[in-house]
Amino acid sequence: MKFRTYAEINLDNLACNLRSIREIVGSRGVIPVIKADAYGHGAVVVARRLVREGCSMFAVARFEEAMELRESGICAQILVLGRLFPDRISEALKAGLSISIFDPLDLDWIEEALRRLPGLTARVHLKLDSGMGRVGLLLPRAADLFDRLSKCSACCWEGLYTHFATADEKDKTFANLQLARFGKAISIISGLPRKPGIIHMAASGAILDLPGSHFDAVRPGILMYGHYPSKETSRSMTPRQVMSFKTYVGHLREMPGGHPVSYGRRWTTPGPTRIAVLPVGYADGLGRRFTNNGEVLIRGRRYPMVGTVTMDYIMVNVGSGPVEVGDEVLLWGESEQGSIETLDVAERIGTIPYELTCGLSRRVQRIYIGDPG
Ligand SMILES: Cc1ncc(COP(=O)(O)O)c(C=O)c1O
Repeated sequence: MKFRTYAEINLDNLACNLRSIREIVGSRGVIPVIKADAYGHGAVVVARRLVREGCSMFAVARFEEAMELRESGICAQILVLGRLFPDRISEALKAGLSISIFDPLDLDWIEEALRRLPGLTARVHLKLDSGMGRVGLLLPRAADLFDRLSKCSACCWEGLYTHFATADEKDKTFANLQLARFGKAISIISGLPRKPGIIHMAASGAILDLPGSHFDAVRPGILMYGHYPSKETSRSMTPRQVMSFKTYVGHLREMPGGHPVSYGRRWTTPGPTRIAVLPVGYADGLGRRFTNNGEVLIRGRRYPMVGTVTMDYIMVNVGSGPVEVGDEVLLWGESEQGSIETLDVAERIGTIPYELTCGLSRRVQRIYIGDPG
């Protein structure tokens, strides 16, 4: 694929990762998390392939993300992890979306909408905050809502869930505390006349390291896209990288020694050398934190990025290496010439693979390989 900056998305690797996750969790359900355009991989295409692989429920963050899937013909259940306000609830009910509730007010809004839409049922998942401290109902305040939900005749209490804050860390003390708190909530529910259909908690870190949190279903994101959530989890499966970010050598320049490169003159040629100019920059999602701090792979050899990352270009010092205009350049992921682990790239600039894959802009064409399903 010459003369393009693009993200190659390997759908067979995605399916392979799903199978590896299933090997770990056995007969439990898998709810792939395909929010943020499937972490930058393209939610509609990813969902289609995962439906083919037998997935019947997905999770997204926003109403608009769910509707994009519906409008693309995805009929599977879709759980919206984020809050829905009254202006969206009626539409969500009509589209059969599963709605997260975090507070009694959310149920008020749903009941109100249901009064205007007789005959419809609301699929709801109650989100508890067991320690993440972001969204969700604190356990001591949950009893009333448990009771209301178990009595709401127009509601299908489809799920109860929570989210770990530290499951990807080596020290599992806090994760185990969250698990214990959630376990307490589950035991309270066991005494109710109606109970939630499924209980779910584990994302990637806990899928790998906390089998006691797998309950009825798990919600993998990053692991499905081929990356460990951190370097501290166990490596009980070998994920295959789904996204490979590639560009090409646009210009090859012979430079004299002592010549500055890019904005701010943050790098100067130490002697005569060859500089490859690559048409990729921060407008594509390759952030300025890579300034004088990155590596690329060309014909199987690694070369350093030099000078400030600009909106549309980066520069690489290729010296006397065998590099020609038009050569494929790997920024992260895999190619025939070798691989660069996205987790290593992320660590270099003090971030996580999630931010790199989600950060690729619209300008970067997604090219799918493998069976689309
Ligand atoms: C509520 C919830 N569940 C699951 C996930 C998936 O997490 P991961 O990508 O670490 O598997 C996320 C991701 O942010 C999330 O917010």
